[in-house]
Amino acid sequence: MELMEAIRARKSYRNQFEDTPVPRNDLREILEAGVAAPSGCNMQTTQFIGVDDPVLVKRLAEIYGKEWALTAPAAILVLTKETMSPSGVSYHIHDYSAAMENLLLAITAKGYASVWVEGQIRGERAREMGRLLGVPEELTVAVYLPVGVPAKPMAEAVKKPFEERAWFNGYQKES
Ligand SMILES: Cc1cc2nc3c(=O)[nH]c(=O)nc-3n(C[C@H](O)[C@H](O)[C@H](O)COP(=O)(O)O)c2cc1C
Repeated sequence: MELMEAIRARKSYRNQFEDTPVPRNDLREILEAGVAAPSGCNMQTTQFIGVDDPVLVKRLAEIYGKEWALTAPAAILVLTKETMSPSGVSYHIHDYSAAMENLLLAITAKGYASVWVEGQIRGERAREMGRLLGVPEELTVAVYLPVGVPAKPMAEAVKKPFEERAWFNGYQKES
């Protein structure tokens, strides 16, 4: 899939997945997209766990607590840690956010679907996911991504028109 096509096709998917596995090589290439993302001062603060063991994938979905997620054949956890850069700022949130978009676009380009699950796992659910996969306590599980082939149509989030958010040659000038 061409890049702009993937950017336009990516949508948050919160529904049933087909009973089709995600081959290890696809999961690896998706993780490679995350690893390739830019990071502040190139500190590479984001780490990733691809999950294709059905027992672990199911347990993650149970911790998340949504019925539809139980049908996902694979999952990814995105790990982060506040890390001071030489400029005295931690860019860890920027870093994993950049990695996240790469992951989501790679997932889309390969014909899979997912959703960035962060708000709904923040705190105890994230810690439980981390314990399940042996994540050291000093790292935070920032995002859970269920991954699979979508079985239902993709729902479209309402977006503000281009003209309300982007311009050329000055604020609120030409769109
Ligand atoms: C930081 C962040 C946290 C998010 N957390 C969740 C979440 O916990 N659960 C969820 O279903 N979607 C979550 N989302 C997905 C957003 O709801 C979604 O991106 C937004 O509604 C726009 O829809 P779209 O992704 O289809 O463009 C999160 C997105 C971001 C960027």
